[in-house]
Amino acid sequence: MKVLIVGSGGREHAIAWAVAKSPKVDKIYCAPGNAGIAEYAECVDIKAMEFDKLVAFAKEKEIDLTIIGMDDPLVGGVVDAFEAEGLRVFGPRKNAAIIEGSKAFSKDLMKKYNIPTAFYENFDNKEDALAYLEKAKMPIVLKADGLALGKGVLICNTLEEAREGVKTIMEEKKFGSAGDRMVIEEFMTGREVSVLAFCDGKTIKCMTSAQDHKRAQDGDKGLNTGGMGTFSPSPFYTKEVEEFCEKYIYQPTMDAMAAEGRPFVGVLFTGLMITEDGPKVLEYNARFGDPEAQVVLPRMKNDIIEVMEACIDGRLDQIDLQFEDNAAVCVVLASDGYPVSYQKGFLIKGLENFKDKDGYYCFHAGSRQTEDGIVTNGGRVLGVTAKGADLKDARKKAYEATEWIQFDNKYMRHDIGKAIDEA
Ligand code: AMP
Ligand code: GLY
Repeated sequence: MKVLIVGSGGREHAIAWAVAKSPKVDKIYCAPGNAGIAEYAECVDIKAMEFDKLVAFAKEKEIDLTIIGMDDPLVGGVVDAFEAEGLRVFGPRKNAAIIEGSKAFSKDLMKKYNIPTAFYENFDNKEDALAYLEKAKMPIVLKADGLALGKGVLICNTLEEAREGVKTIMEEKKFGSAGDRMVIEEFMTGREVSVLAFCDGKTIKCMTSAQDHKRAQDGDKGLNTGGMGTFSPSPFYTKEVEEFCEKYIYQPTMDAMAAEGRPFVGVLFTGLMITEDGPKVLEYNARFGDPEAQVVLPRMKNDIIEVMEACIDGRLDQIDLQFEDNAAVCVVLASDGYPVSYQKGFLIKGLENFKDKDGYYCFHAGSRQTEDGIVTNGGRVLGVTAKGADLKDARKKAYEATEWIQFDNKYMRHDIGKAIDEA
């Protein structure tokens, strides 16, 4: 069959790698893709938000399955656009992707269906938000309602900071129209875990757990980024936590979406905080996490195409989802200055070191092929993943492999997976 993948990051590279392993697949296209994805797929110059062009391309090439990697097109209704033309596509429709597209929606959903999450209020004007802050306990968390590249969350330690934060989101519109509405929520402490799950609208089957490192610098300092590294599984996601989440979070979320007339088909990403009072939902995303996909997919035993088709056809209950009994760590190699300002266009050396090395992967996040070779083309450039017998072994191997790559202004965190030592 012919598959089209929509997106251009490390996540889409990991998806392309998994799709390429499927014996069912004989041709992969990726729009727009990147220099790493080009190893498995023919990259086509169509942007993820150009729905008409994507649909026309899928029809022209007689694509059997399109996989949407990114949040923006999902929230914008790309799945509806494909379905309207009778094309097969993996991902939630617009009315279900809103679970990521509007934090106010997801908070109200959790409240209505008693799904554990932080206390909160939604606001559509600055005056009410500022008045609420006057009697609120600090620290407090401010969230722009809409999509903001994972950066629309402000954790404020003082009332003064919180007042500034409300202005940043609602007055200065730092996150654009994402800040037309906002959520103000209780600050929670605990371990964070990301759990990705395949969903067919009724059944939800979780993949192995992972943990992201969102801050730019070691010691979880600096600005929030799209993610600087991940490990899988999380030692803090115990059997007991998992059982609680299955009973009180995952299935209830599936059922809630179905009851609202918004059945969720695709990958649901639940960001959890494991607090002293038990696991609570930080956020939902309507797609694979990035870089979470880069540690989870290399450990998956199933044929990804079989699982995705089962989701689309509503027979996920028949799939036995299985993961290897090992661990994986991904360290993101970024361009120094990310996430604020950074240069592009530096030659990347050493990519050939990953060829034919079992258990080592170099997923491209921002790269471009030029006449001189592959060059950096984004803030996050590569995700270096290694599998190991356990988390410590995987971490050692991943950091060794980061040394195989050189480019000017290469930057990475040196403490990805440090939490493993505290488990
Ligand atoms: P989100 O995009 O909602 O996952 O938020 C981004 C990051 O902000 C999360 O991964 C957490 O580290 C942090 N965060 C979000 N909500 C809270 C909260 N209520 N309490 C503490 N930290 C939070
Ligand atoms: N790694 C977090 C995300 O994909 O949103």
